[in-house]
Amino acid sequence: MPPPPPPSTSQPASQPGPPAKVALITGITGQDGSYLTELLLSKNYTVHGIVRRASNFNTQRLDHLYVDPHDASAPGRMILHYGDVTDSAVLERLVRHIDPHEVYHLAAQSHVRVSFELPVHTVDSVALGTFRILEALRSHAESRAGAHKRVRFYQASSSEMFGASPPPQSETTPFRPRSPYAIAKLAAHYAAINYREAYGMHCSCGIHFNHESPRRGETFVTRKITRAVGRIKAGLQRTLFLGNLDARRDWGFAGDYARAMWLMLQRDTPDDYVIATGRTASVRDFCEMAFARAGLDYRDFVQVDPRYFRPAEVDELRGDASKARRELDWHPTVSLEQLVDMMVDADIARAEKELAVRAMSDGRTP
Ligand code: NAP
Ligand code: GDD
Repeated sequence: MPPPPPPSTSQPASQPGPPAKVALITGITGQDGSYLTELLLSKNYTVHGIVRRASNFNTQRLDHLYVDPHDASAPGRMILHYGDVTDSAVLERLVRHIDPHEVYHLAAQSHVRVSFELPVHTVDSVALGTFRILEALRSHAESRAGAHKRVRFYQASSSEMFGASPPPQSETTPFRPRSPYAIAKLAAHYAAINYREAYGMHCSCGIHFNHESPRRGETFVTRKITRAVGRIKAGLQRTLFLGNLDARRDWGFAGDYARAMWLMLQRDTPDDYVIATGRTASVRDFCEMAFARAGLDYRDFVQVDPRYFRPAEVDELRGDASKARRELDWHPTVSLEQLVDMMVDADIARAEKELAVRAMSDGRTP
């Protein structure tokens, strides 16, 4: 038998590190879920995630983190479970089975424009879904005396809740929601606060402003633009149809926002925080920057299609995150310029790959 390794000077064998934590993430397959999973795994958490059943693969954003459970030499610390936030029974069963230290509740029908088409479904997943997971945690706590003081809960609240309130928006700005999504998020936000006040649960809400990345869903405006830039550059698309070019958003990088979620749950006292860059830009500005990155002029390619207008619009979001800076020491690390470049470069690479695959399937050399 080989000799035991020499004890490390920085971590004596008699003082083992803190036990690894267990996290549960709803919405793990989404943009934020993937960045948060990477962060928690890097901090040695075991991460459980709830995945919806779909007829196609919906775990692409997690593929690089997946370890085959048949590989006994490297057991994975990301464990996926089928579930849905419209299904109380499965939430209760998973909470009981996993017994997490931290719950990050990200699952939502998160598209504002779609929420006008599907208001009832949006309220079901966003507002009632939050009540369902909070109730699962509450009944779990009741069956294990005091556990609710231990479980820490993160609620993914949204700057969309500010709606018509003019910028800058902070934790004290009145909410004036302008969409079914915002109304549902407001109910979810107050549900988390209510469970904190009524039952002493450790619930924190991140009022996150828009955050983007190369993993952003293709129908949100930033990704729709950068994807079109890549495809136009590669000759795969000619025109980009958009709605309101004058809307202004405070856009940050999703990885920074996942870090803010974790920071909130490391505090002993739960609270609510605005997470934002403090800078606003219009959709038109974003187009100009994204097309310029590829050496193109957006005016040659972008056309307005009223189909993409919203029945009620949020004109301008610009967050004041001074509380998060002060109490969480949270700062964004990626500027808008860097974000645009990162997204455009990734979409140019994707489009080039698509072009190469097409050429090969046509029997041509790329
Ligand atoms: P996203 O990419 O749209 O991901 C949403 C996630 O929720 C996906 O994993 C989705 O599963 C899942 N989901 C939807 N309905 C569900 C249901 N009924 N049961 C279980 N899972 C369900 O959103 P995101 O950008 O990562 O945002 C994460 C959270 O933060 C959302 O709650 C969003 O509303 C909120 N938020 C986002 C931003 C932002 O700018 N990104 C800003 C403020 C707040 P599928 O993959 O199967 O669709
Ligand atoms: N999606 C989309 N598609 N938006 C467009 C388009 C278009 O073709 N053209 C203009 N826009 C404008 C929208 O009218 C809106 O004012 C702005 O671009 C941003 O739209 P989205 O990217 O869809 O994001 P959002 O601000 O509505 O919602 C996102 O941010 C919220 C936080 O403020 C989502 O991630 C929400 O889940 C999140 O809560």
